[in-house]
Amino acid sequence: MVNLGFSIGDLRFKNPVLTASGTFGYGSEFDDFLDVSLLGGIILKGTTLEPREGNAYPRMAETPSGMLNSVGLQNKGIEFFEKNIYPRVSSYNTNVIVNINGNHIDDYVGLAERISRLDKIPAIELNISCPNVKMGGMAFGTNLGATRDVTRAVRAVYPKKLIVKLSPNVTDIVSFAQAAEEEGADSISLINTLLGMAIDTGSMKPALSTITGGLSGPAVKPVALRMVWQVARSVRIPVIGIGGIMNTRDAVEFFLAGASAVQIGTASFIDPGVSLKIVGGISDYLSSKGFSDIKEIIGIINRQGTGKS
Ligand code: FUM
Repeated sequence: MVNLGFSIGDLRFKNPVLTASGTFGYGSEFDDFLDVSLLGGIILKGTTLEPREGNAYPRMAETPSGMLNSVGLQNKGIEFFEKNIYPRVSSYNTNVIVNINGNHIDDYVGLAERISRLDKIPAIELNISCPNVKMGGMAFGTNLGATRDVTRAVRAVYPKKLIVKLSPNVTDIVSFAQAAEEEGADSISLINTLLGMAIDTGSMKPALSTITGGLSGPAVKPVALRMVWQVARSVRIPVIGIGGIMNTRDAVEFFLAGASAVQIGTASFIDPGVSLKIVGGISDYLSSKGFSDIKEIIGIINRQGTGKS
């Protein structure tokens, strides 16, 4: 038997494979494809205090080895979530985590307070990295002072596990991770999407209504891996790697770089059952290498020496 479990403080995850916010709905959309309860956790779609319609269409565009999205955090707001979604997701036997968003610090604080009252939600993911909204989102995650302020304010009202999701659209990712850790984050997840754009040469117009959007998929994996490696060796809290993980091999790269867990995002659009396949694949990989616990390989490239200082 191989031990795949990991923890954020005293919160146990049965395995290190979670699904990324905005790519897995509220879980039930995937019930026909896999047993959601066998995953390490699911991060639910980005939630705001008030309902949001999201951005105008088109808000998705395919790009080489990836895709752009500018959904704009479409969701029905926290009240709808409490009444209609929470009772449903509470039946999953895994960690169900809400991704929270706001225009202002008070929005994040208000959401965190309400979600802290929901017994079956053991953690929130503080989204300070959405690139598709005019206010909030990435504006917090690309400014060190704002990252500190929002993390500190949410920490003050939220006693359960606080995961801060970072934006890759910064020069020095380590300083943002350390700021979040210093302000009380229990874990860091990275990366959210890279700001990008595409133009339709037929219509001579931007492919997205918002002109720019967030790039995800295999195209971003090397950037994500580099940032996860940099952050994992610079903080003491667990790091959750996200970015273009399409299969077991990709996931294992993130563990070797120092991630304690991974989130599967865009890959679920191609194969809705892929996240569970990756759980099995990680176990097989560890057995084939003679390891009995995933912890043995986390950050192993640093222990072996890489030629870098
Ligand atoms: O547009 C969106 O809803 C994306 C959100 C995110 O990247 O966090």
